[in-house]
Amino acid sequence: MRTSARDVEELWAGGHPVYIGAHVLPMLQRWLEFEAPPTQCFVLGDSNTLRHCLPELLAFVPHLQHAEPIEVPAGESSKSIDVAGAIWGHLSDREAERGALLVNLGGGVVSDLGGFVAGTYKRGIRSVNVPTTLMGMVDAAIGGKTGIDAAGIKNLVGLFRDPKGVYVHVPFLRTLGKRELLNGVAEMIKHGLVRDADHYRAVREAPLHDLAALAPLVHRSAAIKSAVVNEDPLEGGVRRVLNFGHTIGHALEAHSWESQQLGLLHGEAVAIGMICEAWLSWRQGLLSREAYDLVQGHLQSLYKPYSFTADDHHRLIALMRNDKKNADGALRFTLLREIGQAMVDVPVTPAQVGEALDHYRLLARDARRHHP
Ligand SMILES: NC(=O)c1ccc[n+]([C@@H]2O[C@H](COP(=O)([O-])OP(=O)(O)OC[C@H]3O[C@@H](n4cnc5c(N)ncnc54)[C@H](O)[C@@H]3O)[C@@H](O)[C@H]2O)c1
Repeated sequence: MRTSARDVEELWAGGHPVYIGAHVLPMLQRWLEFEAPPTQCFVLGDSNTLRHCLPELLAFVPHLQHAEPIEVPAGESSKSIDVAGAIWGHLSDREAERGALLVNLGGGVVSDLGGFVAGTYKRGIRSVNVPTTLMGMVDAAIGGKTGIDAAGIKNLVGLFRDPKGVYVHVPFLRTLGKRELLNGVAEMIKHGLVRDADHYRAVREAPLHDLAALAPLVHRSAAIKSAVVNEDPLEGGVRRVLNFGHTIGHALEAHSWESQQLGLLHGEAVAIGMICEAWLSWRQGLLSREAYDLVQGHLQSLYKPYSFTADDHHRLIALMRNDKKNADGALRFTLLREIGQAMVDVPVTPAQVGEALDHYRLLARDARRHHP
């Protein structure tokens, strides 16, 4: 990690830099002046990010005043081949050449979609990510994974493609709603649990809605994500520590959309996944009961309980088996050895997963009794 002049921290994540601090947007301005003709710059955003964040971006980065904004509808449905196709068509209508630049201004939907479009249009044009959600700042915008959903499966199609840079400007979070903020907090909690016990404690104790208190924690989480990506850019091994909470979390997220009772946000599903997977870590004799109780109590204080029945276990386990991270059909989990340390590829039987789901259903039932 380097700290350059004017309080900008520069991290490296596999194949791209991540800049974070008070003056990142002027840095983007300087980079653009030398690197990108303004007529060939496009700013991809959704209806919320173009409204809330574009004016501030243009104030700090006047080079983009001549860039053309491209708006997609807010939400996961924009990560589709139809929306990607519409953007390819738009770039082509504007005669965008290989030297063109796409600035992805938004949360994970925009950086996943924009990274995919930039990586494929004319075999690849450049992109930069300017994340505007907490999820984007600490996770989605960093690490070069891009993609869209297809055939009803999240992130089915995509590519590893490094942006030219990720510019993290924490004040964009001012307009983000509470639920979306907590969505990103789940990934910060995960970073602490798998890599850094001090960070976990700091996130647990911080007043999360105070941006001044949150900012240094965003730095630390972005640094953890970047460091893990550096060690394993293509997710061949160590990067799988970041999957903690995600095997069960992804299944619950998909289930929540299938059953249409209450679509869980990614971070909300991961939070439940972390409760279940911390419990499995305890059951496997890895994590102490005291540490499990601490993590479970903390996560349950932040995230609403989610309802499902024993009849749903079969479907949930089928969804876990389908998860591309379990390529050989076995269920392999990232589990905790202690707070701040994880183990990847731990085999877990479906019966043990069922027990973890049973355990969570009891917790959720009790939580609903106390907070109906
Ligand atoms: N590529 C990766 O490594 C990676 C990692 C994690 C998540 N993801 C992907 O990220 C996506 C989720 O990202 P997300 O949680 O950022 O969701 P999102 O991009 O849908 O943003 C959430 C909502 O917040 C709005 N919004 C964004 N910034 C705002 C701001 N500053 N003020 C007000 N509203 C704002 C958006 O319009 C949207 O309605 C998922 O598709 C997930 O698969 C990718």
